[in-house]
Amino acid sequence: MKNYLIKKATIKDLEKIHRIEKEVQIEPWSKISILSFLKAGQHIYFWCLFHKKNKRLLGYICFQLIFDELYILNISISKKWQNKGFGSIILGYLYQYAQIKDIKRIVLDVHKINQCAISFYIKCGFKFANDPKVFKGTHYIMVMSLSHN
Ligand SMILES: CC(C)(COP(=O)(O)OP(=O)(O)OC[C@H]1O[C@@H](n2cnc3c(N)ncnc32)[C@H](O)[C@@H]1OP(=O)(O)O)[C@@H](O)C(=O)NCCC(=O)NCCS
Repeated sequence: MKNYLIKKATIKDLEKIHRIEKEVQIEPWSKISILSFLKAGQHIYFWCLFHKKNKRLLGYICFQLIFDELYILNISISKKWQNKGFGSIILGYLYQYAQIKDIKRIVLDVHKINQCAISFYIKCGFKFANDPKVFKGTHYIMVMSLSHN
């Protein structure tokens, strides 16, 4: 049986999201930014991943749909729960959702020093949009193309 559940984030989750954000992100969102994404509507989605038994917040994902593209704005798993498959689970849900919505590409940017996230995205099937060997910026763009049958 699944030991987690995924729910739409609400303002009640703000403090906990902010705590994880400060704990794990290189460039953490401020509480005000998180709040603005929680309230945004307009094709911006914020999902939380909870432990089923103790209801603890394990992580979250925030993304935006623009026409047939989906942009991951944030994905974070609490430090204690990293490298246990939860990031892959939440991305798997996102992938299924993208299929239903007929999305053609999932796009994100990742800081070039964030090796852990880069290896995670590669493992999940993302590819670099720009050649990392010659890229001069601070954030790589990574892309996953979706095929629909
Ligand atoms: C990136 C992140 C979302 C991945 O979620 P996760 O639950 O830890 O990842 P999973 O357990 O599903 O997948 C494991 C894979 O992620 C990568 N990974 C996760 N934690 C890692 C760590 N501490 N060191 C190195 N690689 C790591 C590896 O590729 C690993 O695969 P492997 O075990 O075969 O080497 C999570 O580590 C995180 O929240 N990091 C901090 C926030 C962040 O950087 N977000 C992305 C910003 S663009």
